[in-house]
Amino acid sequence: MKRKDAKTQSVEYPSVQDMNDDQRIGIVKDIFASVTDKYDFLNRFLSLRRDVAWRKRTVNEMNFFSTNRFLDVATGTGDLALDCANTYENVNVVGVDFVQEMVNNGLKKVDAQNLNNRVELKWGDATNIEFEDNSFDVTANAFGIRNIPDKEKALSEMKRIIVNNGQVMVLELTTPEPGFWRSTYGFYLNGILPKLAKWFTKNPAAYEYLADSIMNFPTRKEFLVLMKSVGLKNCRAIPLTFGVCTLYIGDK
Ligand SMILES: C[S@@+](CC[C@H](N)C(=O)[O-])C[C@H]1O[C@@H](n2cnc3c(N)ncnc32)[C@H](O)[C@@H]1O
Repeated sequence: MKRKDAKTQSVEYPSVQDMNDDQRIGIVKDIFASVTDKYDFLNRFLSLRRDVAWRKRTVNEMNFFSTNRFLDVATGTGDLALDCANTYENVNVVGVDFVQEMVNNGLKKVDAQNLNNRVELKWGDATNIEFEDNSFDVTANAFGIRNIPDKEKALSEMKRIIVNNGQVMVLELTTPEPGFWRSTYGFYLNGILPKLAKWFTKNPAAYEYLADSIMNFPTRKEFLVLMKSVGLKNCRAIPLTFGVCTLYIGDK
């Protein structure tokens, strides 16, 4: 990673295929710490508010039956954690993320919504979750798994901390099947999105990385195989908005 221009703090990242795992983790931390202030706005703007509907759908698929606890992994600014707490009034929510700037931003939202009694956000690593086995009914990772090199470890950790018959959910941007929508989406991701992001963030390279990481994410079939490989059952994929996003669900 080299800095091109210290004044605008613009940076250049190697392509996803050329990064080693440690480099990638460092770049992911750098990116999210640098876009925190604009993160929520850019999410809504660049997805035409679809991100809100996708999280809502995820929350609607949740099933609480034993611990009444939800763990939001890679919680970022806490949107999914807050959606869950607002939807299920008897559920306690924890969100973890390894970029403290994102967590701090989320904590302001928890305060503003008076949810401190049921929503706890804190630093935590998705590949080494601090909670004991069987502590939650449901865990989810929204738009975070794409950034985690060791996806198998992250999924195993999610499975470990939920109770039997609990749910592991992954919401992630995907590429539509080859054809018109895939070409249109590829053009948007690589041609338009980084240019739009340039207007709003000091780090447009973050959005070049975003396009790159989406295009390099496993296909739906491959990701379902990965979920099954960690021992999850009834693994299914629900395509959202012409397959631009997918909600994956597996049971323990
Ligand atoms: C695109 S954001 C998604 C945030 C949030 N879940 C949402 O729905 O908007 C990805 C988040 O994943 C976090 N992340 C990536 N790798 C992580 C890891 N190994 N442990 C914890 N958080 C991680 C990043 O810090 C970032 O906040």
